[in-house]
Amino acid sequence: MKPKVFVSRLIDREALDMIAKVAGMEVWRDELPPPYEVLLEKVKDVDGLLSLLSDRVDTTLMDAAPKLKVISNLAVGYDNIDITEATKRGIQVGNTPGVLTETTADIAFTLLMAAARRVVEADRHVRKGQWKTWGPMILLGQDIHHATLGIIGLGRIGIEIAKRARGFNMNVLYHDVVRNEEAERQLGVKYISELNELLSTSDFISVHVPLLPGTHHLIGASEFAVMKPTVVFINTSRGQVVDQKALYEALRLGKIFAAGIDVTEVEPISIDDPLLILENVVITPHIASASVHTRKNMALMAAENLLAGLRGEVLPNCVNPEVTQ
Ligand code: DGY
Repeated sequence: MKPKVFVSRLIDREALDMIAKVAGMEVWRDELPPPYEVLLEKVKDVDGLLSLLSDRVDTTLMDAAPKLKVISNLAVGYDNIDITEATKRGIQVGNTPGVLTETTADIAFTLLMAAARRVVEADRHVRKGQWKTWGPMILLGQDIHHATLGIIGLGRIGIEIAKRARGFNMNVLYHDVVRNEEAERQLGVKYISELNELLSTSDFISVHVPLLPGTHHLIGASEFAVMKPTVVFINTSRGQVVDQKALYEALRLGKIFAAGIDVTEVEPISIDDPLLILENVVITPHIASASVHTRKNMALMAAENLLAGLRGEVLPNCVNPEVTQ
């Protein structure tokens, strides 16, 4: 008998075809994710689940899916999944690292430039008919070239940001729990062991850490307080890494110059959120990996993880390899 899988959203056709060849597959085709209660129902007799970061995969869900062998998340991040619980139950969990690194770094740098040079605000200015003349004091932003960029988390994406920044003649600092001396030699980046030192000396700050209990609200009011008033703050990691109320206050009070964020504490951000009233923040809807090419590669990788799990093999990209050791 064919194994059964649930795919929680419409993904690349080729990836779906790969899965359909070997498994009985149900695909959730709505634009919005399956409500949690529906997901519980859908997984009750599946062997595999292809999930998205908007699907909560917790103990209750695993209880509802006694046959589940593999969870393949279509993302590099997997904070939506209770990994400890999956491991306890011998369920392999897969993710999609690598293929989205440069695409995500591109968006982080796009946000950095857009927020620094007030691109979105300037576009609104034009559309509102406010462009009356060339003005020596109109829409002045911050220079990117030769400025200091502080990267928090020099993983794969952080490294790609550093490369982009070096192309703009930026001075690059980084803070991480692990020092990377090879990256320092190759990219000319400087390690700063104290987070506050990086925060207070950088002109641009870009966050690239996973969401973990230790990184929740890593950046809050006291961190914004030590930043330069001219700083441009970028977050493309996870919304909960930043205390969004503190970010709002810092932007509103001019404690920092601007922000560019691709992620928010609650996604989607409420249309009534006061952040949306501010001119000095650029917000994109968690699209950092959203290029045609990258999303296809992520889908193919997720399909490969899923199929390996169904065959009882070690996933090519497994986040809890101890399950099979
Ligand atoms: C991820 O992969 O974790 C991103 O947030 C979405 O691509």
